[in-house]
Amino acid sequence: MFVLLVLFAFALDTLASSKVYQVEIDLQQVFMHGKPLPRFWTSTGLCPPAPRENVAEFLLSNDSLLNLEIIGSLPSEGLKHVRIHWLLDMITFSHYDERKSIFYDFSRLDAFLDKIREFGLYPGFEFMGIPASVYDEERKHRFAYFWSDLAMQVASHYMRRYGIQYVSNWRFETWNEPDLKNYNVVNFTVGDYITHVQSIRFGLDAAGRLFNNILIPLRGPAGLFKSKEHHPFCWTILELCNDSPRRCPFETITFHRKGSGLRADEILQGGLLLMEQLKNTFSKISLFLFSNNEADPIAGWSTPRVFHSDLRYGTMLASTVLQHWSALFNGRFANLESISHDNGFLSYHPYEFDQRTLLARFQMNQTHPRHVQYVAKPVFSVLGMLAGLGPMATDISFVSQNISYVVSYQEDPFYLCTLLISSNDTFDSIERRQVLTLNVTLNNQLSQQTIGYIVEGLQSGLNDPNHIWTYYGKQPYPTAFQFKQMRSAQFPSILDGPTILRDDTKNVTLTLNLRTPWMATVRMCSLQFSKPTALHNIRTRNINTNEVIIFWHEKPSDVRCTVNYEVWFSKSNRSIAWRQINSGKHTPFLVYHYAPDGGAAGVTGLYRVRSVDVFGRVGAFSKAHYHDG
Ligand SMILES: *[C@@H]1O[C@H](CO)[C@@H](O)[C@H](O)[C@H]1NC(C)=O
Ligand SMILES: *[C@@H]1O[C@H](CO)[C@@H](O)[C@H](O)[C@H]1NC(C)=O
Ligand SMILES: *[C@@H]1O[C@H](CO)[C@@H](O)[C@H](O)[C@H]1NC(C)=O
Ligand SMILES: *[C@@H]1O[C@H](CO)[C@@H](O)[C@H](O)[C@H]1NC(C)=O
Ligand SMILES: *[C@@H]1O[C@H](CO)[C@@H](O)[C@H](O)[C@H]1NC(C)=O
Ligand SMILES: *[C@@H]1O[C@H](CO)[C@@H](O)[C@H](O)[C@H]1NC(C)=O
Ligand SMILES: *[C@@H]1O[C@H](CO)[C@@H](O)[C@H](O)[C@H]1NC(C)=O
Ligand SMILES: *[C@@H]1O[C@H](CO)[C@@H](O)[C@H](O)[C@H]1NC(C)=O
Repeated sequence: MFVLLVLFAFALDTLASSKVYQVEIDLQQVFMHGKPLPRFWTSTGLCPPAPRENVAEFLLSNDSLLNLEIIGSLPSEGLKHVRIHWLLDMITFSHYDERKSIFYDFSRLDAFLDKIREFGLYPGFEFMGIPASVYDEERKHRFAYFWSDLAMQVASHYMRRYGIQYVSNWRFETWNEPDLKNYNVVNFTVGDYITHVQSIRFGLDAAGRLFNNILIPLRGPAGLFKSKEHHPFCWTILELCNDSPRRCPFETITFHRKGSGLRADEILQGGLLLMEQLKNTFSKISLFLFSNNEADPIAGWSTPRVFHSDLRYGTMLASTVLQHWSALFNGRFANLESISHDNGFLSYHPYEFDQRTLLARFQMNQTHPRHVQYVAKPVFSVLGMLAGLGPMATDISFVSQNISYVVSYQEDPFYLCTLLISSNDTFDSIERRQVLTLNVTLNNQLSQQTIGYIVEGLQSGLNDPNHIWTYYGKQPYPTAFQFKQMRSAQFPSILDGPTILRDDTKNVTLTLNLRTPWMATVRMCSLQFSKPTALHNIRTRNINTNEVIIFWHEKPSDVRCTVNYEVWFSKSNRSIAWRQINSGKHTPFLVYHYAPDGGAAGVTGLYRVRSVDVFGRVGAFSKAHYHDG
């Protein structure tokens, strides 16, 4: 019923459109003009809800862990870092030894960070919060010692626990937005704050000396940089950095600039304006790298806004990434290190889709036991598609005011990912549909190789689970059928291909007919890529007695044309009879929600997964994983 209605609406739309947008991509030109594209956008963030005493309980809750595990399921580290406030509140003071050295109990933080690591993620570790049960006296009388000792203990504890390799990918940062009263719960004065930050730097240096003298980078001050009068902490510490850059505690300066909820470009403009301001005050500012690690369309994650529910937010995020890339490419924002999206939160009723989150959370309170159901929002799929960008890219090009694209690639073996967006930010576009033709001209060398391609896309109304939820009347407890419908719309769809080009092909012409706002990628690969590798780290999580989520990992940093992942199941592990359980359900990410019809079939049994590339080649199966209901 639902599908029919949508199809009918599309038929009417198509009749109305006449204009055809043209996109010309000449690879000879592209290869001449591309620059290295760093993956500067693969970070999300979240703040555990108040009160602070419950930080551990929240972060270790089933809902929080499943949210993070899904966040970790984008391929190619599509989301790599999760920036989290108040982590130090998860540590507990344990005891003193006879020399008054402080011993901590890290067990709750360990349990949480073990999970983060298992999910393939890396923390944005803010030195923020106070270990439980620490004596106030401690922080007052041995203030500098207390903070440097704590930083040293945290860093060395985790390098011992996880190894230098993994921890060197963490992002250590100082206290978030220290100028705000609701974050400065310890009542730092400006002087205290400077000492605090210098002590953290000191502690990290001390930890580094214990591990082959490595430098452990520190970020900060995570400042809002509003007026100097009201935000003295972040301005003062930057002054100190400018006065003696060698003694600056930070390797990367972090700041926060959000939009006003109208257009994506407000975020970049805000960042560039701040850079101008800083340049006028601080002469040596170009020596530093900068990160806008709360680069969101508008402040207030929990305030419901309809644009957060659909592709408008997703395409705005993608526009933000492309606009920052262009500024990096052109040298307008040459010292940009990264941006982060503060959207790793858990939504709550009745704003399941409307808050600034990656997933819609449904708390199923009426089942015994209660359970949680997540549906991915389009913004999550946008990040999954951005993960396909290659290591080199051209500047952003505009086809019309609101249709833009970048061409990213690797020359050898040949990989191309053209990413196209149509977005009028938080507004509707005048045109409900747009037709594009894309002409890709291969160079001589490539036309001698076997090339395959696949086109994927997200379209308004189609890849739009909120549309389906709304159609069924926004049920607080959707039925299994409704969840199934929503999940069939939660990931990108294949629009064209997979297709293998005839040898000697010189030009490829594709036509796209899409509903605004939309985002599409065209990925091309040479057969010179080896076949897919085996998948690993297969895990299952129980949702309820009839449903299970299967997760796996793939060796990251492999750009390649993976088309799909196959999930296979065998009910029994004594007489093995494998069958594929996701046939016909496009599975582009490293996660599959298995909810067999009727439920009685059961989900207990063995699971295994493998990937399929654009040439139809399959990788080896993962190890089989037994799920015990
Ligand atoms: C968390 O999930 C586990 C496994 O599904 C379940 O046994 C446990 O009861 C859940 N905890 C809560 C508080 O719901
Ligand atoms: C900080 O100041 C507030 C208000 O003066 C007070 O309630 C709070 O206890 C102080 N916090 C600490 C850690 O001293
Ligand atoms: C859409 O077009 C308007 C008007 O030119 C422009 O201000 C805005 O930045 C564009 N948005 C995107 C996402 O391209
Ligand atoms: C974008 O939205 C604005 C505000 O509603 C509108 O005036 C403008 O025409 C739209 N632009 C496009 C290209 O659809
Ligand atoms: C792109 O290809 C189409 C189909 O071959 C052709 O009609 C069109 O003229 C081409 N566009 C340009 C600008 O060459
Ligand atoms: C389910 O329970 C949670 C926690 O008690 C509550 O916040 C939420 O509003 C409930 N959901 C619905 C749909 O009532
Ligand atoms: C391919 O496109 C180029 C430029 O767009 C054109 O000059 C050439 O004739 C085309 N080749 C074929 C085989 O269509
Ligand atoms: C086979 O199934 C049994 C339960 O029927 C389970 O306990 C066992 O761990 C499974 N073996 C393997 C190798 O998965």
